[in-house]
This record gives sequence, C-alpha cells and structure tokens, in this order.
Amino acid sequence: MPKSKIVRQLNIIDEKSSFAYVEAYKTLRANIQYVHNNNSGRGNVLMITSSIPGEGKSNVSINLAYTLAQDGKRVVLVDCDLRKGTLHRYLDIPALTPGLSSMIENPDDNSIKVLRIQKYGFCFIPCGALPENPSEMIGSSSMSKVLSKLSASFDYVICDTAPVNAVADTSILCRYVDGVILVVSHNEVTRNTVLLAKETLENVNANVLGVVLNKYDAKDAGEDYGYYSYYNYHYYGGEGYGEETKSE
Ligand SMILES: Nc1ncnc2c1ncn2[C@@H]1O[C@H](COP(=O)(O)OP(=O)(O)OP(=O)(O)O)[C@@H](O)[C@H]1O
Ligand SMILES: [Mg+2]
Repeated sequence: MPKSKIVRQLNIIDEKSSFAYVEAYKTLRANIQYVHNNNSGRGNVLMITSSIPGEGKSNVSINLAYTLAQDGKRVVLVDCDLRKGTLHRYLDIPALTPGLSSMIENPDDNSIKVLRIQKYGFCFIPCGALPENPSEMIGSSSMSKVLSKLSASFDYVICDTAPVNAVADTSILCRYVDGVILVVSHNEVTRNTVLLAKETLENVNANVLGVVLNKYDAKDAGEDYGYYSYYNYHYYGGEGYGEETKSE
C-alpha cells in the first residue's frame, strides 16, 4: 500500500487572514503579556502542547511567536519535539540543521547558533538531529541550562512540544517551563482525551495558563461571523473546562 503523505500547512497570520483570526492571536498575546506582567515572579518560558498529534501546536507556536515579535518583543521559538520536530519544515530550514539536541549535548558550546527568521522577526532553534533518548535529554540538567540561558536573553521563549498524552517528554519538560498552553482542536479530540491531558499536566504540577481552541470553524458552527476559522483562549480552572467556548 502506498504511504499517504501528511500535508502540513502553515496558516500564518498575514494580510490574507481573516480579521477574526488575526484578532484572536492578538487576544492570546494580550492575555499572555497580562499573565507575564502579573505572575508574581514567574518567568518567560512558555510551552505549547496538546493531547494528541496534529491539533495545531506548531501552527499556534509560530503564530504566537510572530504576534509577540510584531509587538517588539524578543522571541525565540524552540522545537522541543525531539521525536519528530516539524517546525523547520514550516520555516523552510533544512532538516538536520544543528539545534536543540546539539545544545543539550554541549550546553557550553556557543557555536550552535540561534537562527533569525527574518520575515517573521523572531529567532528559532530547530530540533536538530533526533536523539535516541529524547525523554532523558528533555529532562536533563543541560536542558534546564539551555532554557535558563534563553530565558535571560529573550523576552519570551516559546517551546513547541510533542503531544502530552502520547509521550513522557512533554510532562517532563513542564518542570523547566513557567507556563503551559494547551491546544485543543475542535471536533478532533474527545472531552475525555482532553481531561486526560489536563490530569497528566496537573500530576506534574504544570502551571497551565489556558487553552487555545484551534480549527474552530465559525461558519460551520452556524455563527454569524463569516470567517473561516479562529482561535479562542480562556483561562484554565474556570467552569466548563474542556467544553467549547466562543469569544464574542
Ligand atoms: N487553525 C487551523 N485551521 C486549519 N488547519 C489547521 C489549523 N491549525 C493547524 N492546522 C493544520 O493541522 C495540521 C497539523 O498542524 P500542526 O503541525 O501545527 O499540528 P501539531 O499539533 O504541531 O502536530 P504534531 O503533533 O504532529 O507536531 C496541519 O496540516 C495544519 O495545516
Ligand atoms: Mg508539531
């Protein structure tokens, strides 16, 4: 049987994007900045994850980094998916460009460069060569050192990750990040699956900042917005967690 190829498309915010799509990212940015400015000592390292593969973590990570950069923030996006990082493909960076895995192996080697993505105004660290022991590398003290250095050099460090229900790496990474954003794909994931992700994150005392509802089609849902899709963000911990919410 021929292998079916997964088509990966970057839905970047640009002049062709709907007003609602762009505004939803600005709202996400505003909420993150609010939390960061009022977080009583919490830092600037954010992790984007989801319950299962394909919910849009990498798309959300790139658009969030871009939106923060548009606001003049110094942002570095780090591909922490050491099993099948895909950010380099979205950002047109050659596979095997040295990145996070080399940095973890040699945390004091400053020759491994952080890449500047000129057209989006943020910096980028690809996953690099995929290691045989991703969980151990993500949980290592070297990883903590890499993130600490980045945290001191940038306003925001955005970590794109593997899905939390699928592998241990992501919950291990929680110990080194300041906040977690859970991407939930509309109509692609069950409530129980999202609740399992919530439980897994809670078990490692993750600081879950909120949920991004992705791939929500306002038109399909009979909303009167006339836009194709948009994101919504709400604080974790309120009533109705795991249910759909819609922004006005
Ligand atoms: N808001 C959106 N509207 C429509 N399609 C989307 C949206 N967000 C993501 N997608 C599509 O969903 C697919 C998966 O997106 P993405 O690679 O960002 O997910 P992921 O969670 O990072 O996946 P993985 O778990 O494999 O790393 C891609 O084809 C992407 O184009
Ligand atoms: Mg991804």
